[in-house]
Amino acid sequence: MKIIVKDNYQELSRLAASVISDLVRKKPDCVLGFATGATPIGTYHELARLHKEEGLDFSKVRSFNLDEYLGLTINLNLPYELDQSYARFMYEELFKRINIREENTHVPYGLTENPEKFCEEYEKMIKDTGGIDLQILGIGGDGHLGFNEPGSSFDSRTRVESLTQKTVDDNYEAFYKKAGVSKDDMPRKALTMGIATILEAKSALMLVSGSSKADIIKKALEDPITTEVTASAIQMFKGDAIVILDKAAASKLTRI
Ligand code: PGA
Repeated sequence: MKIIVKDNYQELSRLAASVISDLVRKKPDCVLGFATGATPIGTYHELARLHKEEGLDFSKVRSFNLDEYLGLTINLNLPYELDQSYARFMYEELFKRINIREENTHVPYGLTENPEKFCEEYEKMIKDTGGIDLQILGIGGDGHLGFNEPGSSFDSRTRVESLTQKTVDDNYEAFYKKAGVSKDDMPRKALTMGIATILEAKSALMLVSGSSKADIIKKALEDPITTEVTASAIQMFKGDAIVILDKAAASKLTRI
């Protein structure tokens, strides 16, 4: 695992985008695993800039997102701030800004009537592409990887997961509050790739920004691997794994 510390969020985003764009240039039909949340927004906007100004071509790229809230999916009739689905997030922050083909993008379908069957099919769809070449990851305030909350098994596959109060609180502060949505109306369940699903990617790129993540990323990267901090599974990653942090997020690491 390679750990890289950049001075600030902008530099983190630029480096992350260059890792992704190098792969897209080398393997135009690569399979990317996308993450949502506040952290990758700068990376996605930088990819959009590379597309616009340097012609970075996503026309053959296929993608799978890590997770989606159960009960939500994209609704373009709603203003963006009222549509908190991850499908909408991907559309607004990346997909509409680049030339990726809609049919090549996959975000777990939050309105599925049969989540178990859907999750099995999602796993199969990933396998049928030959697997994810590069999975982008973040870390939650409670150490989650995707929406694999503390206690999730390292053998877990794509499934329905209940969100912790910490995750609900964090997402309220980061997104829902601005939209004027009450905490009581926030989704409490999600569809998420499992930890085993994530670990099967050929490479991984974890992005971590801000002092609020300093304690938890130290646990994930330097303390013993534990299902209590599911992001510590990154230590077991068999392919190439790169973790890019800004200085604030790296401030508690001791082995730099
Ligand atoms: P954040 O979310 O980028 O909004 O901090 C990260 C995560 O929950 O994985």
